[in-house]
Amino acid sequence: MSIEALQNQAAQLAKEAVTQIESADSTKELQQIRVQYTGKKGELTAISKEMRNLSNEEKPLLGQAISGFHETFNNAFGEKETRLKEAELAAQLAAETIDVTLPGRIQATGTRHILTQTREEIEDFFLGLGYQVVDGPEVELDLYNFEKMNLPKNHPARDMQDTFYIDDEVMLRTHTSPVQARTMEQHDFTKGPLKMISPGKVFRRDDDDATHSHQFQQIEGLVVDEHVTLADLKGTLLLFAQAMFGEQREIRLRPSYFPFTEPSVEADISCFKCEGAGCNICKQTGWIEILGSGVVHPDVLEMSGIDSKKYSGFAFGLGIERVAMLRHNVDDIRHFYQNDSRFLTQFKGGHK
Ligand code: PHE
Repeated sequence: MSIEALQNQAAQLAKEAVTQIESADSTKELQQIRVQYTGKKGELTAISKEMRNLSNEEKPLLGQAISGFHETFNNAFGEKETRLKEAELAAQLAAETIDVTLPGRIQATGTRHILTQTREEIEDFFLGLGYQVVDGPEVELDLYNFEKMNLPKNHPARDMQDTFYIDDEVMLRTHTSPVQARTMEQHDFTKGPLKMISPGKVFRRDDDDATHSHQFQQIEGLVVDEHVTLADLKGTLLLFAQAMFGEQREIRLRPSYFPFTEPSVEADISCFKCEGAGCNICKQTGWIEILGSGVVHPDVLEMSGIDSKKYSGFAFGLGIERVAMLRHNVDDIRHFYQNDSRFLTQFKGGHK
């Protein structure tokens, strides 16, 4: 092909390219036009390939024609690209406009479970009396759950607390009392008396009904020091009853039996609903049973390495569910575990 023909072609191509560029609708289309002309298989590239067939005099002429194409092409391209980018950005901004006048979507916020709230309130009360809060394992050794609590193997009182066994020596704990032994073993009396509570889950054989569950939560309490007596227990329980159920509450102790306390007592509080007159909550007695407790059996102290001649203590175990049921008039323990938000949200924002 002659140099003139090639020059004409380059100029013609530039014109066509400019027309195409002008009518492009998007930057994407623009890029395609660039490929169409200057890409590997592009139309201008085909002209450039003719270079090797030209004489040395003709070569610079074609070079100029090619540069001319590029100049025209790039100018038109650059200008159009700027305009298209602006338009595309404007379109994007318009499409992404947020209507701030739309009503928001309400985020459902959860509430702390009423048993958690009750547990923490009881913890706060005892922390205020200088107790420490300690944790114990839910999967417990027979040694701590029973033996160190004065329930040797084959003791008949074990029957009342049958549980899930992992093997002969390992089980789900039936009460929080094993934490008593674990804490006593560790305690250093040169640092002061032992005063602790231990909240947590317990498991035992029970026929589940409105007031019983095979899994529930307890709070264990234990104080050991010199000269601790049943009177200290009664005073502590009185303060507790008044803090949880009102200033007017009184405490009544009834004899009972636990292998790990001697004497053992059930503690009742005076009924907060009828003030003793008799109602359905106190089953017409004026008193409501609230927990089991007693003076720590000397053998229990000794088994955990404490000199029972020098030290004495009291212990109690209360059910968190029971406290929450009484305070909030919950008639069935199973409500706590069913996760029905109609029940749970009643306790939003605390329970005072
Ligand atoms: N561990 C007893 C129970 O679960 C409660 C208790 C604790 C009684 C401490 C006396 C002293 O029934």
